[in-house]
Amino acid sequence: MANIKFSKVFKNSFPLNKLQTIVDYYHLTRRKNGRKYLDEFDTHWEQKWVAVELLDLIEQDRKQILDVGAGIGLFAWICVTLGHKVDITELPVDNKYQPTDIINFFDDAKKSFKLDETVTTYRWEISCTDYKFPSKKKYDLITMQRTNFDIGWNTDDYTTWITNCLIPGLVPDGKIFWVCPWKKSNMLRAACEQGKIKYLQHQLGDLGTEYNIFEIYNNK
Ligand SMILES: C[S@@+](CC[C@H](N)C(=O)[O-])C[C@H]1O[C@@H](n2cnc3c(N)ncnc32)[C@H](O)[C@@H]1O
Repeated sequence: MANIKFSKVFKNSFPLNKLQTIVDYYHLTRRKNGRKYLDEFDTHWEQKWVAVELLDLIEQDRKQILDVGAGIGLFAWICVTLGHKVDITELPVDNKYQPTDIINFFDDAKKSFKLDETVTTYRWEISCTDYKFPSKKKYDLITMQRTNFDIGWNTDDYTTWITNCLIPGLVPDGKIFWVCPWKKSNMLRAACEQGKIKYLQHQLGDLGTEYNIFEIYNNK
């Protein structure tokens, strides 16, 4: 109950008016319609708060976090405001996966609430054949939520990429928090099992019909 109230107080402090300005600007210039980020803000907030609660980010000691594919940066904003040290990744403006305006929209949204001044952004174009981790740091927590870099990946792709790219980016007792689409969850679980990668699969009430949440641990 206490944390539900905390979520409300916290949500009220999010600079929604700044996001609104960026959404309006992109709408007027017809470059990217980001209206859904406002219309669906409550849902996005609730999804991010599920992560805050499962990861115990309020009570835990401050963590070094990498949020992969940060989008408008809502989860990163929450983590920074809670006092954690956060880096993020985003696609380069010119990339093979997303139109330029989408990345510009994400970048401008993050700038509007000054997230760019507190987090380091690594440009990372993820591919299952490239195992180069974007940062030289090791993280307590790597988060990936509603990311869609894994379209067309098979089980072997997941196993090899998690083992060779992602896990080396963790400190010894670090973990990955991955919210993947439900239809990908069987493959992700099979990938962990075939690679002998330690994991926990959460299944949560209503959210479980849409999302599936994995924690993946550093085996060392
Ligand atoms: C739907 S948004 C999700 C944003 C945010 N994580 C959230 O939960 O709201 C997908 C994110 O994944 C990024 N992305 C998509 N394809 C990617 C790729 N191949 N490599 C790296 N990032 C990618 C997008 O640019 C965007 O930041």
